[in-house]
Formats: sequence, structure tokens, C-alpha cells
Amino acid sequence: MNHPVLNVVVARRRDEALDIASFELRSEDDVPLPAFDAGSHIDVHLPNGLVRQYSLCNDPHETHRYTIAVLRDEAGRGGSKAVHDLVCEGDRLQISAPRNHFALAREAGHHLLLAGGIGVTPILCMAEHLASAGESFDMHYCTRSKERTAFVERIAQAGFAKSVQFHHDDNPGGSTFDIEQALNRAPAGTHLYVCGPRGFMDFVLDTARAKQWPEDRLHYEFFGVLANQPAMGGRFQVRIVSSGATIDVPPECTVVQALAANGIEVLTSCEQGVCGTCLTRVIAGEPEHLDSYLTDEERAANDQFLPCCSRAKSPLLVLDL
Ligand code: FES
Repeated sequence: MNHPVLNVVVARRRDEALDIASFELRSEDDVPLPAFDAGSHIDVHLPNGLVRQYSLCNDPHETHRYTIAVLRDEAGRGGSKAVHDLVCEGDRLQISAPRNHFALAREAGHHLLLAGGIGVTPILCMAEHLASAGESFDMHYCTRSKERTAFVERIAQAGFAKSVQFHHDDNPGGSTFDIEQALNRAPAGTHLYVCGPRGFMDFVLDTARAKQWPEDRLHYEFFGVLANQPAMGGRFQVRIVSSGATIDVPPECTVVQALAANGIEVLTSCEQGVCGTCLTRVIAGEPEHLDSYLTDEERAANDQFLPCCSRAKSPLLVLDL
């Protein structure tokens, strides 16, 4: 699935913390950008051909700009390094319109916002929105150290600064994040939102689930495959409806890789189940959805899946290829 692209200019680049830079994107012709909600992200087409997804972290009331912040990840697959090394002020980029798979719950009486590291980007946007809407929330922002903490000044100057607590791993005398306490103190009916590194998110979500927090009050966004993805999937087969060819998908291979090994190319971008580029119609069989792109209703329909990461519950999937 290809999303329509918007042409933007990098109006400002700013170092926000060690290895974290923010980028302010404006439309080329100063036409207002599509509106977005807190928790939204955009696809960014990078100069080296990669496409990566980044959360918007400016005030969602703004339509004159989008702001993203990117952590340089030396161990990553090249997206964040390309952003840091190749994207400068004045550059033109193509992006998608915002999409939101991490929206605030309208019915919540209180919101508990938990950010780990660069996961602060959608969480800060949520805080901006909740503060301006006069809604009740607390935010905890956990980082490895003060020098790796982005947006400190912006938060300190915000009207909601008192609702934000900072926690740094390297600060034994300072505040440490106590998830049990944060959950225990949350008023009844609180909705929890968490974004950050996988370990941080698992820790938060496992603790909340152990305390019987219902799933519909837990909101999270993995920029990557879902938490419940097995380390290694089972073996299954896919059949190509146009040719009738049946292809084995071994445990160590994605469907996209298995197809490519048999000369069938599926267009991909993020390869993490986030962008929707590889969306493929399923004619028969039951997919095991491991993406973070489809909605719950779309997953339940079982008539499409993301073969860059998702697998099969049934022994065979028949694909509309
Ligand atoms: Fe992005 Fe599959 S390539 S969801």
C-alpha cells in the first residue's frame, strides 16, 4: 500500500540531547499541513532510499509544522544514522500524512504517560494536548542520564511541568522510577500509555498486567514488531494464487524473504510491520498478525496481512499475488 506523499522542507535542525536531534518540517509552499492527533507518526523518505517512521512531537494544534526527534542508533539498520548524517536544514524531504495507531482514549478520567528514552516523542505530544484540553494526567520520563534527556527546557517551561517527573538510571541519589507506585497511585479508570525501548515497555506492561489492569486501558506503540512476536515462528506454506506455486516459509525466514528466494518480490519499506507498504490480501488460511499497522477489526477479518513480519496460524495461507 502506498501512501500519498507530502513535500516538506527541513526548516530547523536542533541538537536536543546526546545523540538526539530534532527536525522541524514545513510544507514547501507554506500551505497548512494535514491536522494530526497526539500519538501520530509519519513516514519519512530518507535521502538514502530508506523509509522510516517517526512520531510527531510538536503541539498537535499546530498545522504550520511537524517536528520529529531521532535518536542516533549505531546498532540500528541505518535509518537513524541516515537522518543524523544526511538531513540538514534547507533539505527537501518527502513524508506521508500523519497516521495514528497510538491515540489517547477519550473516555479516560486520568492519563498516565510513561516515556523511556526517545519514546518521549509521542508522549510529549500527548502531554501538550492533555494540558491544553485541561485533562488530568501524570507523566514519567525515564532516561539513562541527564545528557541523554531531550526536551528538558521545553518541559520545564511548559504549563504542565509540575505533572512531569524525570528519572535517570545513572542518578542513584535521585528519583528512580517506581512502576508499582505509579500504578498504585493512579486513580480508578486511569488509562496508561507507554513508549520506549522494548525492555522498558515489557517491564511496564508486564507489571500492569500482573496488577490486573485491563487490556483496553493499556496503550503502547512498538516501532517494530509487536511484543508478542515469537522469537522464531513455526514452519508453514504460502500459495500464490496467480501461479498456484506453493512455497515453504521456514522458521528463520519471513514470508517476504521466502517469496524473494523464489523470485517473487513484494514491495517493502519498514520491514517491521509499521508502514503498511507490503500489505497483501489473504484469500484463504489464518494469518498470525504480528504487525503494528492493522487495526483490531482489520486483524479480525483475516483477509489481509503484513508479510514482512506476520506469519500463519494455519498450515497454509493463500495469497493474492
Ligand atoms: Fe512496512 Fe511491511 S514493509 S509493514
